[in-house]
Amino acid sequence: MSQKSPIKIAVTGAAGNIGYSLLFPIASGQVFGADQPVELQLIEIPQGLQSLEGVKMELLDSAFSLVNSITCTSDGDEGFGDVDYAFLVGSKPRGPGMERADLIRENGPIFVGQGQAIDRSAKENVKVIVVGNPCNTNCLIAQHQAKRVNPRNFTAMTRLDQNRAKAQLAVKSGAAVKDISRLAIWGNHSPTMYPDFENALINGKALTEVITDSEWLSESFIKTVQQRGKAIIGARGKSSAASAAWAAIDHAADWSRPTAAGEWVSMAVTSDGSYGIPKDIIYSFPCTVDEQGEYHIVPDVALSAAAKEKAMKSAEELLAERDAVKGILS
Ligand code: NAD
Ligand code: LMR
Repeated sequence: MSQKSPIKIAVTGAAGNIGYSLLFPIASGQVFGADQPVELQLIEIPQGLQSLEGVKMELLDSAFSLVNSITCTSDGDEGFGDVDYAFLVGSKPRGPGMERADLIRENGPIFVGQGQAIDRSAKENVKVIVVGNPCNTNCLIAQHQAKRVNPRNFTAMTRLDQNRAKAQLAVKSGAAVKDISRLAIWGNHSPTMYPDFENALINGKALTEVITDSEWLSESFIKTVQQRGKAIIGARGKSSAASAAWAAIDHAADWSRPTAAGEWVSMAVTSDGSYGIPKDIIYSFPCTVDEQGEYHIVPDVALSAAAKEKAMKSAEELLAERDAVKGILS
C-alpha cells in the first residue's frame, strides 16, 4: 500500500480518560485510514505531563507503523503547530449532581487560550472537534478566538448522543444498530437535546412504523438519551470515556469521507439560521459530508410542531450559555 504524507493531529487532555481511549485508535489507522501516517501532538497541563509520558511509552510499545512522531507538550503553539485536526478534550468533567453547563466557568477560559493558539499555529484548514464540556459553547469560545480559521471548521461532538440513541432504538426494535439510519440529534449536548426519531428509518422503513409504542418514543426514549451521561456518572462514579472516545473517532472519520447515501451524521456546527435556529451558536443538526470533506446541514427535514418546539428550546439554552460567556467571546 502506498504511503501518504503524514497528517498532524493535536489532542488536548491526552493523559485523561478519554485521551487514553482515543489515542490508540488514531495511532492504529482506524480513524484516518490504514495508509495514513500520523504525527501525534499531545497537549496536557504541566501537572499532566508525567502521566502523558507514560501514555507515550505505551503508544511506542504498541509499535504502530503509522505513527511518525509523538510530541508531548504544555505549550499550545507547539501542540497545535501546523495541525490538520485538533481534538479539544482537555477540561474538567462534571461529577454527580452537576449539569454540564455548571462547568462553563472553569472550562470556558481553557478554550480562549486554545482558540488563540490554534489561530496562531494550526493549519488554516484545521478541523477542530470539541469534546470538553459544555462542548457546544466551548467550541463557540474557541472559534471566536481563531479568526484566521474558517468558522465552519469548528465543530462540537453530539455523536455520542446519536450513537446512544441508535443503540436504544436497536434494543427496543430488535434491529441491528447498522439498520437504523437518519437518527439525528438537534441542539445542545445537554438535557435539552432532541433525538429526532420521527425522521429515522429502520431498514429503510419509517422507524415509527416499526416501533409503534409512541409513548415510549416521545417520553422514555428521549429522556434516556438526554440523561445518559448522568446515568453513566451515577453508575461508574465518573463520566463516560471509552464511548466518548469512540464517538470522537466516528465524528472525525465521518468528517473526512463522504457520508453513505441516504445517511445523516449529527454534528454540532455553526448555525446558519437553518430551521429558524439563531445564528452564531454551535448547534447539532443532521449533516452530510461531501467528497471534499465539507459538511452540509441537511435541508428540508420535516419537523413536527412538537419537534420544532424541542429544537428551539435547545437553541434558547445555547443562547443563554452564549450570554453567560459573552465576556470571553471576542
Ligand atoms: P479527565 O479528567 O479524565 O481528563 C481530562 C484531562 O484534561 C486531564 O488529564 C487534565 O489534566 C487535562 N486538562 C485539563 N485542562 C487542560 C488544558 N487546559 N489543556 C490540556 N489539558 C488539560 O476527563 P475526561 O473523562 O477525559 O473528560 C474530558 C472532557 O470531556 C470533560 O469536560 C467531559 O465532560 C467531556 N466529555 C464530553 C463528552 C461529549 O459527548 N461531548 C462525552 C464525555 C466527556
Ligand atoms: C456524556 O454525555 O457522557 C458526557 O458529556 C459526560 C457528562 O458529563 O455527561
